[in-house]
Amino acid sequence: MSDDPDVKTVVVTGGTGTLGRVVVELLEARGHAVRAVSRSSPRWPVDLGTGTGLATALQGADVVVHCANVPKGLVESTRRLLTAAGAAGVRHFAHISIVGIEDVPIGYYRAKLAEERVVEESGVPWTLLRATQFHELAATMLGALARVPPLMVVPVARVQPVEVREVAARLVDLAVAEPAGRVDDFGGPEVRTMADFAASYAAARGLKRRIVSLRLPGKAFRALREGRGTTPEHADGKVAFEEFLAAGK
Ligand SMILES: NC(=O)c1ccc[n+]([C@@H]2O[C@H](COP(=O)([O-])OP(=O)(O)OC[C@H]3O[C@@H](n4cnc5c(N)ncnc54)[C@H](OP(=O)(O)O)[C@@H]3O)[C@@H](O)[C@H]2O)c1
Repeated sequence: MSDDPDVKTVVVTGGTGTLGRVVVELLEARGHAVRAVSRSSPRWPVDLGTGTGLATALQGADVVVHCANVPKGLVESTRRLLTAAGAAGVRHFAHISIVGIEDVPIGYYRAKLAEERVVEESGVPWTLLRATQFHELAATMLGALARVPPLMVVPVARVQPVEVREVAARLVDLAVAEPAGRVDDFGGPEVRTMADFAASYAAARGLKRRIVSLRLPGKAFRALREGRGTTPEHADGKVAFEEFLAAGK
């Protein structure tokens, strides 16, 4: 812990992940004492699935920024983390979640929603930010759909991918401030169809693909068609998907 009240000791879970590693970089650039924890972390090895390493990593911490993604046992691992954070006297738990999770009925989103309840009811003062899909995830999904030429078949859906660095910057601002509860969602600059983003993806990668939009059955795809995973009123991100692709990411 530092004697300077502006310098915080911050534990970043998932500090090696897509979001977490940028959060770590931005916090360190601001002079905070950062502990990037994950199973593969050489300095702060922590397994949220079992709790191994957790008490040591949290000792003396002011803030936890929870960027880990533990697909199996998501809710339990976050509960375990919060219990340990409460015991260690952590004063602020900054949490990242996903826009529209109550409206798009898929298993991972149901778990994210249950995870939010655990955060809200933990007794540790909290801030909760929801973001749309990162450009990385959109590119990975479109890459999979483009794998077999000549077609690229995409579901009819409205999406709003966002630059992860912008989400990380917002999360860091929130994490080093006072706990604020649920804050405004953060979305990418544009809500467009998946087919539209697929065309950009194929062009940027030099892939010749005929893009076919398919109306898929089921409640989840209907919700995606209706743009339930988007937040047009908070299109706060500035970096377009095309800029992300042009940067060679
Ligand atoms: N990706 C998106 O588009 C998106 C959009 C909005 C919100 N979010 C949310 O943002 C958060 C981070 O997502 P992300 O895409 O950055 O995840 P990610 O790239 O998959 O990174 C996951 C991180 O969690 C760590 N981790 C996994 N299992 C663990 C365990 N058992 N114990 C400790 N650490 C573990 C991983 O490190 P090790 O493997 O080394 O343990 C890694 O650092 C998630 O809550 C996600 O729901 C993501």
